[in-house]
Amino acid sequence: FSSEKYKVKRKPFGTIEASDVDYFKTVLSEDRVLTDDNDVLPFNIDWIKNCRGQSKLVLKPKTTQEVSTILKYCNQKRLAVCPQGGNTGLVGGSVPVFDEIVLSFMLMNKIISFDEISGALICEAGCILENLDNYVRERNLIMPLDLGAKGSCHIGGNISTNAGGLRLLRYGNLHGSVLGVEAVKADGTVIDCLKSLKKDNTGYHLKHLFIGSEGTLGLVTKVAIHCPALPKAVSVGFFGVEKFEDILRLYANAKSSLGEILSAFEMADNDSISSTAKNLKLPNPISDYPFYVLLETHGSDEAHDSEKLTRFLEKEMESGLILDGTVTSDPAKMQTIWNLRENIAAAGLVEGYMFKYDVSLPLRNYYSLVPLLRQRLGAKASRVYGYGHVGDGNIHINVIVPKYSPEASSMLEPYIFEEVAKLKGSISAEHGVGFRKPQFIHYSKDANALQLMQQLKQLMDPNGILNPYKVLPEI
Ligand code: FAD
Ligand code: MLT
Ligand code: ZN
Repeated sequence: FSSEKYKVKRKPFGTIEASDVDYFKTVLSEDRVLTDDNDVLPFNIDWIKNCRGQSKLVLKPKTTQEVSTILKYCNQKRLAVCPQGGNTGLVGGSVPVFDEIVLSFMLMNKIISFDEISGALICEAGCILENLDNYVRERNLIMPLDLGAKGSCHIGGNISTNAGGLRLLRYGNLHGSVLGVEAVKADGTVIDCLKSLKKDNTGYHLKHLFIGSEGTLGLVTKVAIHCPALPKAVSVGFFGVEKFEDILRLYANAKSSLGEILSAFEMADNDSISSTAKNLKLPNPISDYPFYVLLETHGSDEAHDSEKLTRFLEKEMESGLILDGTVTSDPAKMQTIWNLRENIAAAGLVEGYMFKYDVSLPLRNYYSLVPLLRQRLGAKASRVYGYGHVGDGNIHINVIVPKYSPEASSMLEPYIFEEVAKLKGSISAEHGVGFRKPQFIHYSKDANALQLMQQLKQLMDPNGILNPYKVLPEI
């Protein structure tokens, strides 16, 4: 259990009784109240298998009214609640720690409206990102975010984690593209900020409180989001590079040569790509190099865009920054390349226990922690590798050990966070704080900012029933 592994004590919340279960069965139909151990188990374990909770009850509401009724009851009885979307979160935020009730959004999956002219999509929080993307693509638009977990993650989970993803560089983050949200406060009050307007300066922008607050300030039930146009032309380049400094020079050159069509600039080191290719039996279209760059363009003229990208490749092979590479606009070939990148996270799971870090660093220091950790852990780690969203200054560092050990953990933490703080980075770039990092949040947030966060929590959830043990450190 993660409470034992991370030495966390249960807070004095109420304990679920048979009468509570009976009550929930009157609010929801019986089949939407899960109590059987086997049914509840998957909701207790996170994707990365770092955290395991002890919940005995999962509720699956279908409407905002049901969410509101459940929360009102839980708040009165001091029953703690863990909201869960697609359960792809990587910081233990989506699973309970003790016996919190899991409130799953999986049945709140309806599209409410779509305006093809403005691009405003309104839907329920439990819609799966890929389903939404397929829906809007058929209407010549795309979702403004894309990530490897798109087949399972929910839009409500994306908003609650302020997910970044593979094209943030081009389409911006969710604070920009979310037009409105409907959310339910801990006491059951429904906050309707579900406007689909681009401009609405009527007082405080409350929707932002729910973007990235990881289910600790309220539950997101509906979402209005702006969808950009489907690009008419997409091209992908995959390049082998000798050293990290060359990636930075390539990034600067790509911005100036490709300008507005650049939609992704991702990097991965050799260990990331070779272990993914090997563990998941995925083909690598170029041979072995110390580093790789995946570059994508979204534009409107296929011949023009792929010619631009091919010229970029030729020029940079001449300059020596690219050792070898391939450029393609063929959908199947582009998918092969993206598969390698998007599956790096999944490939790590088959090798042992994964310590996962997700940090922002100034670009010149972007890769510096990988060699540092390799040296520090030596033979204790089977593998230490880095990859991520160069365009956003966000690197993911995975440390694989044969088996979890407190010793490996204490060699990594707080060391890595101290190093990030020294470099003025962020200890969580895009995955959030969840259960795994509240005790380290002070490395990236000043004491007064943390105090304001605690005050907001107190205001919105005075009994602390929403996703306890997550995000905020103990005071
Ligand atoms: P969950 O994992 O279920 O929940 C995440 C958090 O949000 C939890 O704290 C939960 O309590 C809360 N929550 C969920 N739904 C609601 C709701 N409706 N209201 C209130 N709170 C809620 N993240 C990135 O930023 N960029 C990436 O590129 C990226 N790639 C990924 C690739 C893979 C293969 C995987 C497994 C994960 C990746 N993630 C990435 C991490 C993850 O944050 C995202 O997958 C996603 O945003 C989580 O959505 P979810 O529906 O699975 O939420
Ligand atoms: C990614 O960029 O692939 C995701 O954020 C998941 C990960 O950290 O592996
Ligand atoms: Zn990422």
